[in-house]
Amino acid sequence: MSQPRLRTVVVLAAGEGKRMKSALPKVLHPLLGRTLLGHVLAAAAPLAPDRTLVVVGHGAAQVTAHLAEIAPDAIPVHQAEQLGTGHAVRTALESGPEVGGTVVVLNGDVPLLRAETVAALLTAHEAAGAAATVLAAKVADPTGLGRIVRGPDGRLEQIVEERDATPDQRAIQEINAGIYAFDATLLRNALSKLSTDNDQGEEYLTDVFGLLVAAGETVGVHVAPDATETLGCNDRVELAALRRLLRDRVNTEWMRSGVTLLDPESTWIDVTVTLDRDAVVDQNTQLRGVTTVGAGATVGPDTTLIDTTVGAGATVLRTHAVGATIGPEASVGPYAYLRPEATLREKAKVGTFVEVKKSEIGEGAKVPHLSYVGDATIGARANIGAATIFVNYDGVAKHHTTVGEAAFIGCDTSLVAPVEVGAGAYVAAGSVVTTNVPPGALGVTRAPQRNVEGWVLRRRAGTRSAAAAERAAQEAASASEGEGIHEASDAGGTDRPAGDTATE
Ligand code: UD1
Ligand code: CA
Repeated sequence: MSQPRLRTVVVLAAGEGKRMKSALPKVLHPLLGRTLLGHVLAAAAPLAPDRTLVVVGHGAAQVTAHLAEIAPDAIPVHQAEQLGTGHAVRTALESGPEVGGTVVVLNGDVPLLRAETVAALLTAHEAAGAAATVLAAKVADPTGLGRIVRGPDGRLEQIVEERDATPDQRAIQEINAGIYAFDATLLRNALSKLSTDNDQGEEYLTDVFGLLVAAGETVGVHVAPDATETLGCNDRVELAALRRLLRDRVNTEWMRSGVTLLDPESTWIDVTVTLDRDAVVDQNTQLRGVTTVGAGATVGPDTTLIDTTVGAGATVLRTHAVGATIGPEASVGPYAYLRPEATLREKAKVGTFVEVKKSEIGEGAKVPHLSYVGDATIGARANIGAATIFVNYDGVAKHHTTVGEAAFIGCDTSLVAPVEVGAGAYVAAGSVVTTNVPPGALGVTRAPQRNVEGWVLRRRAGTRSAAAAERAAQEAASASEGEGIHEASDAGGTDRPAGDTATE
């Protein structure tokens, strides 16, 4: 018989957030992996609502575009003028077919709210058969917030905004979190009766409570177990405080699930990141987006990973990586830059001052120092010498380079794409490779060396180099005299054939 109750979620996100002093609408400010609005929607998502309505106004186009990305099922409702929270909910409910069941209303700027708390509010509301239930919290400093006014029997009488409150009411430390559950029909009825007779001349959603009480309806108060969950965000100082609170919450959860954080205060992990057991995160590290860190991997210090996968047992030191995949037991850094589609296979190494973009570094292959690898496929166990540059761009288009399995690229080599170095091939140091090197061949493109004897003394006379050259020449001359004497007194005492040094 019992039908599941209809549930509608309404998120209020039309305000400008003046005190943020930002071109970005307040609810779009980011906070450890989601926008403020994204956090609120995530807290409501487990309710599995039939409809989610998001009231947009200031920056409506931006907020609507963001919604399409993160919550395509949510329906934006445009509130052209911000005439108050009551007006916002009324606009939402009038925007579509009449809804029954329960309406859950959430302020869009309460990002620390936990899904369990919203669920508990709803359960309490439905169990009590209440007309309306408000989420409340006891706080040390209630400045600026609506106060929960209870009667002598402890029941809620009304919610009063600070600017409309009497001195006695201002002393109340129990505040309205801006999160509510309502019976849809009674809510709609009460909303139609709201006045604007208050300090701001707005339609206050909170006045619905006084109206319902006056009509003899049951209203409830659900007190949040953790008051920090109900903190709003009005300026960037508060946003920073929320960020620290969320950081601590996230870090505590990871440590309790078996991850070592060497310095939790300087470790910032987005709520969208996952870490496996015995991962170690060293200080000054940011893990962002859809980053995952495998079991036993070490990340940091001084590392930022964005949308990056780190395999089990890998080591990533002082590295900046975006959209990279680091295989199991691979080693990265110190001072590496991995860009989108950099893929390191198992036990691969990308070392110091190496940048990798859209390239695969094969299993056990090494790029240890000072190199740029772009648009390349490097075979297993290949060795890329220091200062190798994959020359991938001709000024118009990008081209691919393939280095075969166990190939050996000498230092200071340019591989000019498109080009292939075959399996097991060598390239001599200092080469500029523009044509393919077959498997097992040595590619060498450098000019033979020519020494111009005495050039410095002739052309750079009087410089410190010339002075050093002169001293070296004198030392060489006296050394050969000395050896001559030595040879004479101890002939046969050396394995060099006699006369070897004396003849010059
Ligand atoms: C509101 C509550 C207050 C509570 C506090 C908790 C009212 C009258 N007061 O106050 O009791 O303690 O939240 O944070 O509700 N919004 C719209 N359209 C509007 C007006 C507001 O969408 O016309 C949105 C805002 O963008 C914001 C939310 O509603 O996300 C709350 O509005 P805000 O102006 O911040 O209300 P507060 O003064 O903080
Ligand atoms: Ca607010």
